[in-house]
Amino acid sequence: MAEGSWVDVAAADDVAPAAVVAVEVGEVELALWRTAEGVLSACDARCPHQWSHLAAAGVVDGEELVCLSHFWRFDTEGHGSKVSVLGRRDAKGDVATFAVREVAGRIEVQVAEPS
Ligand code: FES
Repeated sequence: MAEGSWVDVAAADDVAPAAVVAVEVGEVELALWRTAEGVLSACDARCPHQWSHLAAAGVVDGEELVCLSHFWRFDTEGHGSKVSVLGRRDAKGDVATFAVREVAGRIEVQVAEPS
C-alpha cells in the first residue's frame, strides 16, 4: 500500500447515520462512524483513555462518538472531552483521525497519514 493512498473499506450504506462499524486496513484498526446528521468520520479504533475498541464499546450520540467504558466523547476531528453530570465539558485525550471520503457509493480512508 502506497503511503497516503486511498483504501476502499466499506459501502457507504454500511455506515448509517448514528452508527459505528469496525474496519481493518492491514494492521490498522479503525472505527468508521457517522454523526446523527450523517457526517462521516474515521478514527483509530482504540480509545486513548484505556484502549477500549470504539466500534465495540462506542455509540454515536448526536455529533459525537462516545466510548461507553468511561464516557469520553470524540468529535469528527478526534477532539476528546467528557461532560460532567452538571454539564461541564472538560478536554480529554484526542483520538487519531484519518481522512475519509465517499466515492460512488463506497467509503475510502487514507490510512497512512493520521491527522
Ligand atoms: S476506555 Fe474509553 S473512555 Fe475509558
